[in-house]
Amino acid sequence: MGSLSGRISHLSESETLKMSKLSRELNAKGFDVINLSLGEPDFPTPTHIKEAAKKAIDENYSYYTPVAGYQDLREAVCAKFKRENGLSYSPAEIIVSTGAKQSIYNAVLSIVNPGDDVILPAPYWVSYAEIVRMAEGNPVPVKTAIGNDFKITPAQLEKAITPRTRLIMFSSPCNPTGSVYSADELKDLAAVISMHPEIFVLSDEIYEHINFTGSHNSIASNDAIRGQVIIVNGVSKSFAMTGWRIGYLAGPVAVAAACEKIQGQVTSGASSISQRAALAAISSGNAPALEMRKSFLRRRDLVIRLLGEIPGMNLNIPQGAFYLFPEISSFFGKRNGNEKINNAGELCMYLLNHARVSLVAGDAFGAPEHIRFSYATSDERLTEAAARMQKALAELS
Ligand SMILES: Cc1ncc(COP(=O)(O)O)c(C=O)c1O
Repeated sequence: MGSLSGRISHLSESETLKMSKLSRELNAKGFDVINLSLGEPDFPTPTHIKEAAKKAIDENYSYYTPVAGYQDLREAVCAKFKRENGLSYSPAEIIVSTGAKQSIYNAVLSIVNPGDDVILPAPYWVSYAEIVRMAEGNPVPVKTAIGNDFKITPAQLEKAITPRTRLIMFSSPCNPTGSVYSADELKDLAAVISMHPEIFVLSDEIYEHINFTGSHNSIASNDAIRGQVIIVNGVSKSFAMTGWRIGYLAGPVAVAAACEKIQGQVTSGASSISQRAALAAISSGNAPALEMRKSFLRRRDLVIRLLGEIPGMNLNIPQGAFYLFPEISSFFGKRNGNEKINNAGELCMYLLNHARVSLVAGDAFGAPEHIRFSYATSDERLTEAAARMQKALAELS
């Protein structure tokens, strides 16, 4: 057999998908694994959205779709930006894709040349670094502190920017930390970015509606850098539609056109049925998202209380998304019999084997002293998971 490309040998497998696969395999063998490794709301898609998809099938939405997305969906996305974010976009600035992940991939491939630097405030979402590598760019992680709720400061950003910097990419609310930037914090970052008009910013707002601060802010609201910002969003998290695979991007027309060109050679337009469902989701308001948010907030408080009782877990209080990202280095060097924990990956495997709880090591998020705990599951399962973790961790000394 011939050899595989250098590209693939440099690419890491998605750590979150790997842990979920492992826990599914253990479940299939009859073990009761609590899977807290995936970033997925545990709610079903709301009924009116499912009805829209059924109607689309009956109305024969079965043909190729326009590469950039149906025109009415792009218009609905513009209306959403106006209504919810106070931002004016035209349909020519919107590209609908097969999930927000594809929107990010399109944007990075459109902007980054081989050898360009991309600043990633760390912890960052797992796929950012790998997508940058696929574009042959260099991910440049900038470490943030738990004491600053994992947010990059303007001074850190200024220091990280070099003539090779092409793009800055971050999420707010953030996966994996749950941190949410305030309007003032974004304004201060925008002031730095405005001094570097050659740089783009990718603002990943996929967790927009899972935000406990009362308001979502987009860095695109800062007029001075408006032409530098690409917003990525989608229906996966806000409308419990992860499997429907619809995301979208809003940005300068030239970037949107480049994304359309790439997508036209890779996947073509996103699924017709899913786009009709997304149209129903986006144009019918956020009541389902607000209901889910209430549950997530209750669960956040529950897991903070339960994990907070475990000695050695250093926690902050996240303001959005559905993750905790505790610092767990106090367990490094500890043992249970012959088993020694040297790093976060080994701690995750230890918890999978001894507590039957599946979590993700922080390494893939650029934070090797942390683990990610997703609380997108029932209160009962979360309570059970915390109890099992407490018992297994107490056996380490
Ligand atoms: C920060 C962030 N961005 C983008 C995505 C991808 O979303 P989608 O499922 O729509 O591709 C995820 C999914 O986990 C995410 O956490």
